[in-house]
Amino acid sequence: MIIIKSNKELQHVSSTAKPFKMIGKTMFGLEEILAEELRAIGATDVQPINRAVAFMGTMETLYKANYCCRTALAILKPFAEFEANNEQELYDNVFKIKWEQILDVDCTFLIESSTNSEIFTHSYYAALKTKDAIVDRFKRMFGRRPTVDTENADYKFNLHIHDNKVTLLMNSSGESLHKRGYRQAVGVAPINEVLAAGMIMLSGWKADTNFFDPMCGSGTILIEAAMYANNIPPQYYRKKFGFMKWKEFNNSEWKSVREKADKQIREFEHEIWGCDIDANVIEQAEKNLRFAKLHYDICLFPESFENQAPPEGPCMIITNPPYGERIAVDDLNALYTSIGDQFKSYGDDRTAWLITSDFRAMKSIGLRPSRKIELYNGSLECRFLKFDLYNGSKKDKYATEATTDGD
Ligand SMILES: C[S@@+](CC[C@H](N)C(=O)[O-])C[C@H]1O[C@@H](n2cnc3c(N)ncnc32)[C@H](O)[C@@H]1O
Repeated sequence: MIIIKSNKELQHVSSTAKPFKMIGKTMFGLEEILAEELRAIGATDVQPINRAVAFMGTMETLYKANYCCRTALAILKPFAEFEANNEQELYDNVFKIKWEQILDVDCTFLIESSTNSEIFTHSYYAALKTKDAIVDRFKRMFGRRPTVDTENADYKFNLHIHDNKVTLLMNSSGESLHKRGYRQAVGVAPINEVLAAGMIMLSGWKADTNFFDPMCGSGTILIEAAMYANNIPPQYYRKKFGFMKWKEFNNSEWKSVREKADKQIREFEHEIWGCDIDANVIEQAEKNLRFAKLHYDICLFPESFENQAPPEGPCMIITNPPYGERIAVDDLNALYTSIGDQFKSYGDDRTAWLITSDFRAMKSIGLRPSRKIELYNGSLECRFLKFDLYNGSKKDKYATEATTDGD
């Protein structure tokens, strides 16, 4: 692998056992959770940054991070760093990289870019210049060139420019890691799998109680909960990763990482239940569960949450109700009042968490949250709210005043 430490210096790093720097991309609010996951798989120098975590590790760590980290969206490997004060310098420095040692001429590739720079104000244009330099180098050397594929590229690179500092990173994951491979059907507004896993881990659930999602849609939170509870690796169902095309890919090391992680799968002794008022989305959830072979672990009910209590006994409730953005609801405030009423009826030994972007409807729940965590569902700013639930005799514990604001 080539690292341009400065404009002049090229360094070759060949050993896969030598630790190198990586960046795990995640969502806002999940950085600390991903950092914990990375420490647990043996990553070192783990440092949470904005929507990402920097860490050190070997190729084995890279395989484990891809396979085992529930809250990672992508694992990136920086391989070139240089300064560029104009477009020509960007082009020249990219051209100097020995791309033929990284890619085959017959492959497809894609550059994804982000810029925060007064010099490079359009990230798309910077990506285009970078692509031109790569293609021109191949054309000059071989008379042929790799092609760009925006859908299904063999190699994905990230171009990151801050002021005049350029970093090129290889995306070892390929497609985003939220694509776990178990989704056969989608509901109207499915939650991102990484966000669902992050919410479960933020809730502090230790898989030592029952679990319930009263508005489960296509079942994402339930499936992520079942995978977490059974210690099924998040990418157990996925077949393809970007690193499989890399020259240094070692299939036996990768297989051994998978086998070790798969041996940790365990039985979960408690109940996982979900319900949804829409029988069609329950059918979709059923398809996803069957594909993941989790249909014996999770019970689904085509019911309104008003008619479906959680399983008996201690229970963690995590749900993603409509926000009125993607699903039209006649009276969102009435829906949230009803959610609050149900929560109040659930009684002792239950904890409920709910994510929403509707700060007005949130007030209609009529319960005071004991925690509020800022998260983003796509571009929607949300709050992930915790409610400690008590039984009827302790009704006075509930604040009659509504949830006060977005903060
Ligand atoms: C944002 S979606 C949940 C998406 C889900 N997390 C997923 O990943 O597919 C909200 C769900 O609430 C359901 N819903 C709305 N009112 C309901 C009610 N009274 N009882 C149960 N489900 C309800 C809708 O049918 C919808 O599937």
